[in-house]
Amino acid sequence: MAKRTVNIGLSLGADICWPIAYESLFEGLKLDGMEVDGSSLDFACERVTIEPFSLHQPVKYDVVIDRLTHWYSTSREWIKKAILVDDLYVYNNPWSLQSNEKHTSYAAMTRLGLPVPETWMLPPKAYDPSDDLEPTLRKYARMFDLNEIGDKIGYPFFMKPYHGGGWKGVTRINDAADLHRAYDASGTEVMNLQAAILPHDWFVRCVGLGPQIRPVNYDPGAPLHDRYRMDINFLDADDVSVLRDMTMTINAFFGWDFNSCESLRRDGIWHPIDFANACPDSQVTALHYHFPWLIKANLRWSIFCAATDRPMRRNMDWGPFYEVADRDISPREKLREYAKIADERFETEKFREFCLTKLGHLDELAYDFFGSPTLRDAIHQKVEALFPAHEIEEFTELFWNRIQTWREQEGQHGDKDGF
Ligand SMILES: Nc1ncnc2c1ncn2[C@@H]1O[C@H](COP(=O)(O)OP(=O)(O)OP(=O)(O)O)[C@@H](O)[C@H]1O
Ligand SMILES: [Mg+2]
Repeated sequence: MAKRTVNIGLSLGADICWPIAYESLFEGLKLDGMEVDGSSLDFACERVTIEPFSLHQPVKYDVVIDRLTHWYSTSREWIKKAILVDDLYVYNNPWSLQSNEKHTSYAAMTRLGLPVPETWMLPPKAYDPSDDLEPTLRKYARMFDLNEIGDKIGYPFFMKPYHGGGWKGVTRINDAADLHRAYDASGTEVMNLQAAILPHDWFVRCVGLGPQIRPVNYDPGAPLHDRYRMDINFLDADDVSVLRDMTMTINAFFGWDFNSCESLRRDGIWHPIDFANACPDSQVTALHYHFPWLIKANLRWSIFCAATDRPMRRNMDWGPFYEVADRDISPREKLREYAKIADERFETEKFREFCLTKLGHLDELAYDFFGSPTLRDAIHQKVEALFPAHEIEEFTELFWNRIQTWREQEGQHGDKDGF
């Protein structure tokens, strides 16, 4: 039987806790000797280093889990080169991340018929000087009446940067005075104005990793460590199915393996408001109770992609989505059809089978690991990096306890994998 070593690379930045958990479980799984498609596979995992590289430098990785592409251009170009030259599989698609801003994602999902709230874009209030600026604006920039746009959208609404980014520069606009104040303060930033989905009865951040999803009750007003609420089974099956179909559609459309989609429910309708999150929360200090789900989902998907030699989709191929969008069927039926395309692209059935036959021992292993001193130490390291000295023990304990609650509630039975 042919033998092959499968290599997974972790392209990391300030990450501390999740790589420790990932690597410990990766090792604990003892995957060597797995038989896939007539080959016997050995498995290796290491952290990718940053260094000069030639276009001809070989790349040994089959899969890279990347956390740098969205801001560190050397790694992004290394990844793009490795996809083009060396058949690397990486999540997420770097071209898509680079070019599809939050605003683009609003546009695309509007065209597919998803209820994205009314959204406008404004030219920036201020500019950095450049040679062409003055003639361009003098000839073509039209004066506009901000009040008129405010009235068209209807108060309240949100002003936020068109490219997103960690809740920076997001302002709730209650009236015309707020609007002028916020626009004047926005400087060179290009802003979206987006109708508010208020009041809403649910705010859900739905994490997608390959075909696995986890809808989390999210409280954006809470302190960072409390935003991901610990509720489970808080939505009925119809709501979960809509959120799954939406998340899968968005992620398959843009080639994002790992992304989170925020949706607000008002009058029974889910409105997606923020779903271009290139590098979703992975830290135990944010995810706490949900951290084990993420680590397990990440292991399953990366091992599947590496072991089955999953080819990278190098372009987006939007045609099939547009064909569905143009059919004369209801919005819910369209969403179901998009999700079918997504399930094909994410190979949901093959993945399910792989998890059942090759990774059946992950649940028990994870149950033990998430109660181990190694995990406790990983939490401690992350807390130490983020919290003031006098809070380190208290918050280590808090996150540890929440994970122990996960073990009792979900870990014992094999958690809900969401696919
Ligand atoms: N259309 C909307 N209706 C209601 N609330 C909104 C809307 N848009 C934004 N918000 C509020 O503003 C917050 C930040 O907006 P958004 O999520 O779009 O920006 P962000 O910079 O991507 O934030 P983050 O990275 O923290 O998710 C949301 O969590 C929500 O509380
Ligand atoms: Mg957001």
